[in-house]
Amino acid sequence: MDIETCIKKLGYVGVLDFATVDENGAPQIRNISAIHYEGTTLYFLTARGKPFARQLKADGRVQILGYTKYKETIRLSGRAIEVPEDEQIKWRDVIYAEQPYLENVYPGETKNIDTIFMIKDYTIEYFCLSTRPITREYFAVGDAEIKKKGYYISEDCVGCGTCQTVCPQNCIEEGSPFVIDENHCLQCGNCAENCPVEAIRRY
Ligand SMILES: Cc1cc2nc3c(=O)[nH]c(=O)nc-3n(C[C@H](O)[C@H](O)[C@H](O)COP(=O)(O)O)c2cc1C
Ligand code: SF4
Ligand code: SF4
Repeated sequence: MDIETCIKKLGYVGVLDFATVDENGAPQIRNISAIHYEGTTLYFLTARGKPFARQLKADGRVQILGYTKYKETIRLSGRAIEVPEDEQIKWRDVIYAEQPYLENVYPGETKNIDTIFMIKDYTIEYFCLSTRPITREYFAVGDAEIKKKGYYISEDCVGCGTCQTVCPQNCIEEGSPFVIDENHCLQCGNCAENCPVEAIRRY
């Protein structure tokens, strides 16, 4: 997998789920379809008065989820910024040209309430359940940094092999210490729960 293919897949999915946090730290999620992909940068449209726009302005953190029929999840985490005033019309026109139905949603002058946000620095987690073992990959775009999650095996490992026998994806290799293949790990924690010396740690 690679970033460009992930972006293409998000484009094919079309309507994506966008999650933000509100002023109380509560999760908020909604469908968004008015998205333009310019290379790896996403431009998307909403209306200034919506809670969505207010949450993006106040906080900016956004997580986007797309799911394909091949049992793939593409999860994008980043920060949205409002496009500068002098570029608003340009990107709005691009989005309306690609998605003419928007003219029915905001006909004529009413589209002046629209505002365009962009996301250019983000990480992507690609997760696919249709392979055996499963596939998980991370990518970073722009200034974003990948935050590790899941499990690793520390030097406390005594090489008993129990973790291998309980791993549902057979993604632990023998060694000193044993090693988890992160690209195939479910992050289920079964190895950690069964290690007799608690050598398996969470990142
Ligand atoms: C298929 C579909 C696509 C949508 N696309 C957008 C969109 O591109 N931009 C937008 O602001 N709202 C879009 N909406 C509406 C939002 O999902 C949501 O209802 C609205 O923005 C209110 O969310 P909020 O209360 O969190 O602001 C779409 C709704 C549907 C059903
Ligand atoms: S169960 Fe724990 S000690 Fe045994 S091989 Fe796995 S990590 Fe090492
Ligand atoms: S977290 Fe689950 S899938 Fe990953 S190595 Fe441990 S047992 Fe295997």
